[in-house]
Amino acid sequence: MSTRPSTWNVPASRVAKNAHNPIRQIVDKLKVDPNAEKDLISLALGDPTVFGNFNVDDSCNEAVIRNLQTFKANGYPPAHVLIMLKSPGTEQARAAVAEKFNHPDSPLTARDVILANGCSGALDLAINVLCTEGQNMLIPRPGFSLYENLAVSRFIEAKFYNLVVGDSYFNPERSWEADLEHMESLIDDKTACILVNNPSNPCGSVYSEQHLRDILALAEKHHLPIIADEIYCDLVFKGNHFYPMATLTKEVPILSVGGLAKKYLVPGWRVGWVTVHDRNGILKEVHEGILNLSQLILGPCSIIQAALPDILHNTPQEFHDKTIEQLEVCEMAYSLNTKISEEGISQIPGLTAVVPQGAMYMMVGVNIADFKDIKDDVEFTQKLVAEENVLCLPGQCFGYPNFFRIVITPPADRLKEAYERMKQFCARHHV
Ligand SMILES: Cc1ncc(COP(=O)(O)O)c(C=O)c1O
Repeated sequence: MSTRPSTWNVPASRVAKNAHNPIRQIVDKLKVDPNAEKDLISLALGDPTVFGNFNVDDSCNEAVIRNLQTFKANGYPPAHVLIMLKSPGTEQARAAVAEKFNHPDSPLTARDVILANGCSGALDLAINVLCTEGQNMLIPRPGFSLYENLAVSRFIEAKFYNLVVGDSYFNPERSWEADLEHMESLIDDKTACILVNNPSNPCGSVYSEQHLRDILALAEKHHLPIIADEIYCDLVFKGNHFYPMATLTKEVPILSVGGLAKKYLVPGWRVGWVTVHDRNGILKEVHEGILNLSQLILGPCSIIQAALPDILHNTPQEFHDKTIEQLEVCEMAYSLNTKISEEGISQIPGLTAVVPQGAMYMMVGVNIADFKDIKDDVEFTQKLVAEENVLCLPGQCFGYPNFFRIVITPPADRLKEAYERMKQFCARHHV
């Protein structure tokens, strides 16, 4: 006897219902008026290509065109196996990633690399392979919202460890370090892994070697693997240094995730990777597990995979240097630093910028008590866009109220204009 319902009833799955993006509800409140008097300046989107001042290097374009014209990169990657059981990417592309990130203290071979659809896809693989429904993972707050979304959609609890603002002027290199005591207090029997994002979105922080070692010591004490989100690797400003986490430990197993999006300025090309750092065979099953997961959905576009060896190995260093110089100009000149620039955002009464050391972002604190008619960061950004057509994401999008995040990739004159508008806005609303 069929127990089928007698009328239509087609619900969404349990996973789909849980896969909401909490940022959406906040962002939906930020209404951009298409008829506003002033033109829109969006400091909201972490896509460096939108203003046209950060462009992919010609050599990368040429590598794609060359591979397109061979007619050899149009098939399912990897195309050389007759029966595709696992789909971690083509051997050449994986070897190119392994060679690029190989380090004497964290050696890699092509086998340790799994290509994915952007770094988001790599995070999806890493979380999926390490965490099971009912477990929890430790995530930074403030942090990139995708971590929580991916975890929660799979019924994995997201537990947030605090990052501490610190004294950004006198000790900027220590800003947004993880509160290790808090992190340790969250660990329990169900904790599956710790996620560390360095350099950070939304903070723009770059961790010292010592701080990374301290996190690793905690992970080692509790036998927890780490997911190291290093998508902003090497995007660090003068005086700072990026340490790949896997190079600092011989004990803690690490899944590093990265991709082309930010460093090569091509987020739309959707190529990312997981690199498995497992010197002691601890991740044997996990490694096999990622390969299993990779067969569910084929990895990134065949053309970009074919071009990957050229992109990773033949992009001139001057291209990367120029990207950093451009970011530094934006950061120094207009964004923030009271000590360097009279025009810094922190000169605006009511706002305090936290000096970034890398990536493409800066967090700005809003001293709510200084404003007569603004109750929190969401209202601040709502009114800012309504009155001045400057769009920023409120800190609540990153789990961190009473801050807002600025993307520092717009051209300097746009940032300067945004700064001027913020100044006028704050003057109007200040007590
Ligand atoms: C910290 C962080 N991780 C991962 C990603 C996702 O990168 P992709 O565009 O390659 O999926 C982003 C994108 O903004 C990010 O900021």
